Amino acid sequence: MRERAAAVLEANWTGTSTVPSRTLYPHQWSWDSAFIAVGLRHVSPLRAQLELETLLAAQWGDGRVPHIVFNSSVPCDAYFPGPDFWRSTTAGRAAGAPRTVQTSGIVQPPVHALAAWLVHGADPALSRSRSFLSRVYPRLAAWHRYLLHRRDLGGGGLAAVVHPWEQGMDNSPCWDAPLSRIAPAPASAFRRADLDHGAPDDRPTHLDYGRYVRLATDYRDALYEDQADVPNGFAVEDPSFNALLITSEHALARIAVELGAPTTARHARAERLTAALVERLWDPATGMFFCRDLRAPTPEETGALIPEYGVTGLIPLILPTLPRHVTTALLSTARSPRFGLGTPTVRLVPSHDLTGPSFDPHRYWRGPAWFNTNWLVERGLRLHGERAEADRLRTAMLDTALDTDFAEYVDPYTLHGRGARDFSWSAALSLDLLHART
Ligand code: SER
Repeated sequence: MRERAAAVLEANWTGTSTVPSRTLYPHQWSWDSAFIAVGLRHVSPLRAQLELETLLAAQWGDGRVPHIVFNSSVPCDAYFPGPDFWRSTTAGRAAGAPRTVQTSGIVQPPVHALAAWLVHGADPALSRSRSFLSRVYPRLAAWHRYLLHRRDLGGGGLAAVVHPWEQGMDNSPCWDAPLSRIAPAPASAFRRADLDHGAPDDRPTHLDYGRYVRLATDYRDALYEDQADVPNGFAVEDPSFNALLITSEHALARIAVELGAPTTARHARAERLTAALVERLWDPATGMFFCRDLRAPTPEETGALIPEYGVTGLIPLILPTLPRHVTTALLSTARSPRFGLGTPTVRLVPSHDLTGPSFDPHRYWRGPAWFNTNWLVERGLRLHGERAEADRLRTAMLDTALDTDFAEYVDPYTLHGRGARDFSWSAALSLDLLHART
């Protein structure tokens, strides 16, 4: 298992970073790189450091870490939307896009400080000799500042995403309502490259793509400026994105201790964010975290919670200081028929409500089980003392990763692989699970 997972990472290594997939995703992706570094540290702590350094070298002047860093030696039509769509060096100039490398202009979930801390721990001597933490710390701090200040579009202290690609679960039913208000770009205006490699039934629909393209085009044409007061568009506060930000704030506090920098403000910030997450996204009546739609059209709906049970709502389980009653209720939602955690028929947690009308076991984020979200749930279970359940989930992930050649995602009932194979984070997180769990 270890050899096969390491071979996937070796094959997907480009010399400075790792592609998520040689076919579907031939550049560097932001949250992929963070998860990849978490596993790569067990094979090569040096490469794991380089992975994060390469990503952070493409950070924009305003602090944003772009969701894709393009590899200039990959043909332009290998991935859509490519550098000629995002035009970071021109449209992103005012926001401080780098001049020497092309990137997208949107972001992805902030898993990076957590990854940096874990990578450091794999080989502290190497990390210190390369001044790894002292070089990445200011960049990670600027990244969090961008999210907490420029992206607090709802004014409640949480970071908002302005595109489904930013949250990472592209076609989750959680976005159906806010996306339904977006006029799709005409199909003739772009050519998808994903269908050259992925089965259409496993991928988002053409209608979804039209809307993704419209949102990205509008953001680019507004020069990637974040505006709190535009009435239309897409702006959502998401539980998983913010839970990862909080976890990364805790990790930044640990990094600060290691570097001898002040930490009090960081801990206080993580606590404030946890309180804001519960206040704004927790629904006590259902025992679930939901997304908040900041652009709902009528005043009564503005800031409405979206009543869709996506796996995003379970990810706050990774938080160490969630109120006990919230953790208890969330665990029972995870164990309910909606997610089937701990039941023999569903060994991996699906990406969406098994009992909901939008559930689709094959289509990307509308039902399939993913390795990164299961890794996060496993971590949350362990954190809250649910050791037997965490062990069962870990075994199911390892069995499935091996059986499917490290599939990108799997049908949660049959555990058959869907999407790409030799997918980097599936291999990397398997490597991490093979190491002792604490
Ligand atoms: N996940 C998106 C894609 O499928 C982009 O980040 O291409």
